[in-house]
Amino acid sequence: MKAKAVVVRGLVKRYGRVKAVDGVSFEVEPGEIFGLLGPNGAGKTTTIECLEGLRTPDRGTVRVLGLDPRRDRYELCERIGVQLQTTALYDRIKVHEALTLFASLYRRRGPWGRRFERLVEPLGLGSVLGRHYAALSGGQKQRLHVALALVHGPELVFLDELTTGLDPQGRRAVWDFLLELRGRGTTIFLTTHYMEEAERLCDRVAILDRGKLLAQGSPQELIARLGGEGRIVFSLPPRGAAPRADARVDVEGLKGLPAVRRVERLVRDGRETVVLYSENPKATLLALVKRAEAAGWPLDDLHVQRATLEDVFLALTGRELRP
Ligand SMILES: Nc1ncnc2c1ncn2[C@@H]1O[C@H](COP(=O)(O)OP(=O)(O)O)[C@@H](O)[C@H]1O
Ligand SMILES: [Mg+2]
Repeated sequence: MKAKAVVVRGLVKRYGRVKAVDGVSFEVEPGEIFGLLGPNGAGKTTTIECLEGLRTPDRGTVRVLGLDPRRDRYELCERIGVQLQTTALYDRIKVHEALTLFASLYRRRGPWGRRFERLVEPLGLGSVLGRHYAALSGGQKQRLHVALALVHGPELVFLDELTTGLDPQGRRAVWDFLLELRGRGTTIFLTTHYMEEAERLCDRVAILDRGKLLAQGSPQELIARLGGEGRIVFSLPPRGAAPRADARVDVEGLKGLPAVRRVERLVRDGRETVVLYSENPKATLLALVKRAEAAGWPLDDLHVQRATLEDVFLALTGRELRP
């Protein structure tokens, strides 16, 4: 059996009286994309910094590629790549100079050699190689930080909130690039508070909240554990459009429909929307349509959404996972 890429057992890290990480255990398989998912303050950065050898755990053991990140840091830094949550480079350095400088710090040669096109093109940096760091947009800086973590062709890369500040297009470019990187055998460890990212990218995730791991598994497994849960969504008629008085939707009464766990009323794009969280969307939908037909409710924009990792987090904590 191949050795684990990362092993964490009973990790505890305190800052004074704050227990940032409180007894966390998990493993990462070689070649997978593993995501540590949780809201701000969950302890993601602290955990990843213990793996990178930047912080010393108070308790527990941490192994990265079979090595101790503190004791074996010199051997490890050749084999891992690190993108920190907050990084800043010298303002006057140019993009290609930063890549060359970082590459020169390693004994190992990256698969890119002296030509970084295969690294920078997919990250959308090909056109800014001659630009000063200070002149880059926030998204370009972020993508450069990802590139710099990879110049030496590490076996394992740590990416802390890698797509924060990226527009949707830049984010997709980074996702595609990481999927391709995994295809070439690189293990990817990332943190995110962005559940769509975790769902799209990660083979497995661990959900962290207030320093504790609440669940781990593939996104599909965690969603399936909710038991086929989904959301039924429809819009209410605009105010002033005054439907017949008897056709007013009885939102409170919807709680009584089969399999409904929770009912939420939101305003979206100026329209009032009703969301039914259901453990059995099919059963709820059938009953809803029947009731609507009898009462003459116009269920505008009626649709069903499958459960997401957001719903998993909500089910585990009773709170929404929002940045
Ligand atoms: N250097 C530090 N000193 C004191 N407290 C810290 C420090 N870094 C983080 N914390 C606290 O530890 C907890 C976990 O933080 P962090 O690991 O940054 O979480 P995340 O990356 O999930 O947002 C938070 O309560 C945070 O305020
Ligand atoms: Mg963080």
